[in-house]
Amino acid sequence: MNKRTLMVAAIILGACLLFFQPIFANALPEDWVAPASADSLQSPIKSNSDSWMPGEAIYKTACGVCHGVSGFGDGIAAVALNPRPADLTSKVVQDQSDGALFWKLTTGKTPMASYKDVYTDQQRWELVEYIRNLEKKD
Ligand code: HEC
Repeated sequence: MNKRTLMVAAIILGACLLFFQPIFANALPEDWVAPASADSLQSPIKSNSDSWMPGEAIYKTACGVCHGVSGFGDGIAAVALNPRPADLTSKVVQDQSDGALFWKLTTGKTPMASYKDVYTDQQRWELVEYIRNLEKKD
């Protein structure tokens, strides 16, 4: 290969990288961050050893398919999804405020639906409470 062929090859490679860059960028997991204002949302539910119970039925029907029955992000639909469903027991999730989790359930983010019109505020807070207790419960 002479110098000129190499240079042409380099230019073509560079052009390809530029062209496909947005695709690569999309494939990278991006952080989903709730707005700071969500942190001030207050749950009407008082946490105690039974407060996970009301959310259980909805979680099992609506969330477990993606997030898994124990919340590890390993539901039966999980393998097909990009990004993968979050591990709800993980530190990144558990370190967020109740309000931030509530905001995420309310807003949704593809492939997860917005649950704003599906469940009442009370039910979404019950789900937050359920998420909080995923680890303790088992
Ligand atoms: C279709 C699959 C699917 C279903 C059903 C689903 N989720 Fe998700 N969920 C996801 C995916 C995928 C993400 C990660 C989104 C991202 O990070 O871009 C996510 C993220 C979340 C997060 C934010 C985690 C974080 O990293 O901050 C919470 C909280 C959550 N889901 C709770 C729920 C609850 C509660 C339900 C049931 C009402 C539910 N999800 C139903 C797929 C799903």
